[in-house]
Amino acid sequence: MPSPTDWWRSAVIYQIYPRSFADSNGDGMGDLPGITARLAGLRDLGVDAVWLSPFYPSPQHDAGYDVADYRSVDPRFGDLGDADKMIAEAKALGLRVIVDLVPNHTSDEHAWFRAALQAAPGSPERERYVFRDGRGDDGGEPPNGWRSVFGGPAWQRVADGQWYLHLFDVSQPDLNWGNPEVRAEFEDILRFWLDRGVDGFRVDVAHGLIKEATLSDYEYAGEILGGMAPEGAPPPPMWDQDGVHEVYREWRAVLDAYEGDRILVAEAWVQPADRLARYVRPDEMHQAFNFEYLDTPWIAERLRKVIDSTTAANAAVGAPTTWVLSNHDVVRHATRLGYPVGERRRPGIGAGDPQPDAPLGLRRARAASLQMLGLPGSAYLYQGEELGLPEHTTMPDDYRQDPAWERSGHAERGRDGCRVPIPWEADAPSYGFGPTDASWLPQPSSWAEYALDRQRDVPGSTYELYRSALRLRREHRLGDGSLEWVETAPDVLAFRNGGVLVVTNFGESPAGLPAGAEVLLTSEPLTDDGRVPQDVTVWARG
Ligand code: NOJ
Repeated sequence: MPSPTDWWRSAVIYQIYPRSFADSNGDGMGDLPGITARLAGLRDLGVDAVWLSPFYPSPQHDAGYDVADYRSVDPRFGDLGDADKMIAEAKALGLRVIVDLVPNHTSDEHAWFRAALQAAPGSPERERYVFRDGRGDDGGEPPNGWRSVFGGPAWQRVADGQWYLHLFDVSQPDLNWGNPEVRAEFEDILRFWLDRGVDGFRVDVAHGLIKEATLSDYEYAGEILGGMAPEGAPPPPMWDQDGVHEVYREWRAVLDAYEGDRILVAEAWVQPADRLARYVRPDEMHQAFNFEYLDTPWIAERLRKVIDSTTAANAAVGAPTTWVLSNHDVVRHATRLGYPVGERRRPGIGAGDPQPDAPLGLRRARAASLQMLGLPGSAYLYQGEELGLPEHTTMPDDYRQDPAWERSGHAERGRDGCRVPIPWEADAPSYGFGPTDASWLPQPSSWAEYALDRQRDVPGSTYELYRSALRLRREHRLGDGSLEWVETAPDVLAFRNGGVLVVTNFGESPAGLPAGAEVLLTSEPLTDDGRVPQDVTVWARG
């Protein structure tokens, strides 16, 4: 039995993307005081915790995932005092706070990397990163053929002729996790934030820290966000190496020495499910995002299979499953699900690309969210999904900031479309994102209808659907429950979680509910004779 303090096993955790959540000073960029002022609203929505994407000093070449100083706050977002206030306010409201930790790479403006560039090849300063001599007579060829996840080669040459590895942007040099100094530094960074009262860390690129020792060649392009070998390719030497687990065992010991129930959550694009489950063994991390579920097409049979396989793989190591449908790296699910079923997830969308069927996408997204929130385990929500926000699919390319756009030679539009600032008030400047019209990415004019003040207390709105779902989930203890499939038509997915029956109909014919079932919540109205229409999820009792 999970101990009652294992809050994370069933928690609903809301991802805040600080740049785009709430702007207190009108400069067009969200900030910590803006977040603090809106935490009470999140409590009211019914989430248990928040995870904040990075707010540390950074040149922002990868929206803050290029950290220049791990122990401070970027002036764009506030200062350390603002971070303390945000943590204190969350605690006062009963919300836990998870911060982002980016250990695979630093920014090229980090003091360590600046020192490495000043120092000679072979120096201790260079040993903190992955510097190598090049190939070819004059060393003019990169040390191997690895590709950056954002496109182009994963190596950059420096003035004295050596090369450094960057699995992401050229401004994000990879750290050398074989170096004890790097390990000690990150344990200290963990303690810095644990001492300030955070409840845990979302670990960026958790599958990437250790590279295969010989840096053996690998000719395949990295998938966006890495981790998955392209079909038919051998396992990538830069991802999911066994050595990463030692790092997480060390970190777990650091967290366990603190009071409270502090957690680590892995961002690890790793398959199959039993490889991912290794990250959540009892002495390692607590959670790992189930991206396989996120990427499963809207097909009953496929979803059932992935729910089963990922739940079983986690159960084998005593871990719950961590469900997620959207985040700041993928096309929002209200848009993803508006494309033909089975299409591969797009790495961003622009005006010239095929556009989604938006109403269908929203209908399915509401059904998908209700299905996810009915499953046992924990779930992450991405800011704005509770408003049914779609991707900005027609953003003019001039605004794009994702490094993937440039580095891919404009082949991938990238992730800006899911990062657009949130509409809070339909009739306010920047839809209430901040006190002025400024917004670091343009908000589509159609967003007034999604604004929170148009949805709050409006029966049937997406916001009220989420709020009801979170309340019922808590009342019926669904997060701590267990899943039992109910056999039904092939196009229908039905399971019981404790006393609640969760039914999603993927097929054209309306699906019946058991006689006497008491409907608790539906993602769309039922048919007049009480059946479940296509692309609708129902929670019922009985
Ligand atoms: C994963 C983060 O979620 C993504 O936004 C970032 O670009 C890469 N890791 C590199 O840090």
